Amino acid sequence: MLRVDDIQLAFGGVKALSGVSVHAKTGMITAVIGPNGAGKTSLFNVVSGFYKPQSGRVTLDGEDISGLRPHQRAYRGMSRTFQNIALFHGMSVLDNIKLGAHTKLKSGVLSAGFRLRLTRSEESELSAEIQRDIIGLLELDRVQHHPVEDLAYGLQKRVELARALVMKPKILLLDEPVAGMNREEKSEMSRFVVDVRKNWNTTVLLIEHDMSMVMGISDHIVVLSFGKPIASGTPDEVRSNPEVIKAYLGAGDELTPAQKATAGARSQ
Ligand SMILES: Nc1ncnc2c1ncn2[C@@H]1O[C@H](COP(=O)(O)OP(=O)(O)O)[C@@H](O)[C@H]1O
Ligand SMILES: [Mg+2]
Repeated sequence: MLRVDDIQLAFGGVKALSGVSVHAKTGMITAVIGPNGAGKTSLFNVVSGFYKPQSGRVTLDGEDISGLRPHQRAYRGMSRTFQNIALFHGMSVLDNIKLGAHTKLKSGVLSAGFRLRLTRSEESELSAEIQRDIIGLLELDRVQHHPVEDLAYGLQKRVELARALVMKPKILLLDEPVAGMNREEKSEMSRFVVDVRKNWNTTVLLIEHDMSMVMGISDHIVVLSFGKPIASGTPDEVRSNPEVIKAYLGAGDELTPAQKATAGARSQ
């Protein structure tokens, strides 16, 4: 579904990405992980079209989209969430979700103050479709008419996920979807991402710092360190890879006791 090939991206003298390739297969959950500064956000921005790499290629469903702007990528079925919550206060959950129809039609970036230019019947059709396909799946029934700012953090993130699904994307890009969440919110979010994939066979590319979430739900993982790919494979392959453990240890990130033991044994 999505191929990212041999990306080189530098900011002045800083090489943010070198030789990075990621292939996300149809209906699979592919994750990119790495310690802080590894290049995850840079890669996310290259895939969504916000950064233009010095070289390399991004292909969606066989089409080279490297030269396309973010909204053109959205139009071709690429949908994204933002790391920081980007919801509109003073509007209901349902209305916030409806805005997902606009992101594809217009700039791909939400701007305050716009109005959906839909006729009344188009608008109620859109609401009905969202209620039928998304609200139930993401268990937002109870809160759909509440002002979005009244919701707890984890629920607000779920509303963002719902909004990204309105146009039934071919590929869903998630930028650190569980950042700032407590354990219970993390496991809920993981469950909903898995449910979305199961229901619609949506291809998912997940950029995430949190190892436990990624290990639990991914089919394939690519690990970056200092802008370079250092490992890829299944969660089990990646979890026990000494390079990966070393990179996370060096960055002072949390590791499981088992991983620390492995790292200790290898370095002796
Ligand atoms: N807009 C930018 N301008 C300059 N340097 C940047 C920019 N974005 C990222 N970098 C640098 O690129 C490297 C990778 O950063 P980033 O992609 O944010 O990593 P991560 O998301 O994995 O923490 C870092 O060294 C960072 O300082
Ligand atoms: Mg980042």
